[in-house]
Amino acid sequence: MFLVTGATGNVGRHVVHQLLAEGESVRALTRSPEGARLPAGAEVVGGDLNRPETVEPALEGVSALFLFPSPGTAGPILRAAGERGVRRVVMLSSSSVEYTTDGADNAIVAYHKEIEHEVETSGLEWTLVRPCGFAVNTLQWAPQIRAGGVVRGPYAEAEMALIDERDIADVATRVLRTDGHVGAKYVLTGPEPLTQTEQARRIGEAVGRPVRYEEVPPAVAREQMILNRVPADLADMTLRFQAGRAGVPAEISSTVEEVTGRPARTFDQWAADHAADFR
Ligand SMILES: NC(=O)c1ccc[n+]([C@@H]2O[C@H](COP(=O)([O-])OP(=O)(O)OC[C@H]3O[C@@H](n4cnc5c(N)ncnc54)[C@H](OP(=O)(O)O)[C@@H]3O)[C@@H](O)[C@H]2O)c1
Repeated sequence: MFLVTGATGNVGRHVVHQLLAEGESVRALTRSPEGARLPAGAEVVGGDLNRPETVEPALEGVSALFLFPSPGTAGPILRAAGERGVRRVVMLSSSSVEYTTDGADNAIVAYHKEIEHEVETSGLEWTLVRPCGFAVNTLQWAPQIRAGGVVRGPYAEAEMALIDERDIADVATRVLRTDGHVGAKYVLTGPEPLTQTEQARRIGEAVGRPVRYEEVPPAVAREQMILNRVPADLADMTLRFQAGRAGVPAEISSTVEEVTGRPARTFDQWAADHAADFR
């Protein structure tokens, strides 16, 4: 039995599907089982990662755990897992734990590092999965694209090799099911670096009408975030992080192909698969 936490999320949902497709038994954890819309083949259970005692029953009879990083409670959950005979843990972390740029020492990166440490010292067989930015992040542009095809934001030339969430899930599934990945820290990226200007243009190609990225100063982006109800401290943290990354060439890793045996999906493929979400 595999326990997937964060099972209704962008990555976890695909981990559930992929494990089932491989013929495995899957238990999927969510705070809201009634609205989870998970496949019938999964055993959907209630539990809140912020309250480890509610997760403990879900650990019974589990051999491997996919851990969504929820700050502050990974230690007790991992201890409970070990006590119940869980053998393996695969943690969803972030490539940002490796960044040394200004603004990368923020609270979000700090809690990922803390949970990685809990995982590494858990006594379980562990693997860290460290993806870069998800392709699905660009869905936040959908309202602007639908409203006129202009995406306004900072740092138009900042580049990243966005990764398709399905590739993260495919790697996690392989690592959960097979030996040979214990102690690995896998940085995962997509296959090609794309600036934000280029990401917007490619979405336009997939949608069938022009989309362009219009750079605005960070202060304007901050105002917009706050209008969109982003807390001011989070807006500041995000912009400091982005300022530090602007101008840094995107890292490309071949780990998706090495682990799964096939190349990482392209952003064009992701955009084509999600074109309807932007129309
Ligand atoms: N987005 C990026 O670019 C990026 C880049 C690198 C790393 N990451 C990592 O990936 C994570 C996001 O993954 P994702 O996009 O798959 O997540 P997501 O879509 O935001 O979903 C996370 C799921 O986790 C569940 N969850 C949240 N808090 C929980 C709690 N206290 N107890 C139980 N379940 C809880 C929620 O399910 P229910 O509501 O059903 O309980 C939610 O559906 C980030 O937090 C970060 O660690 C993201």
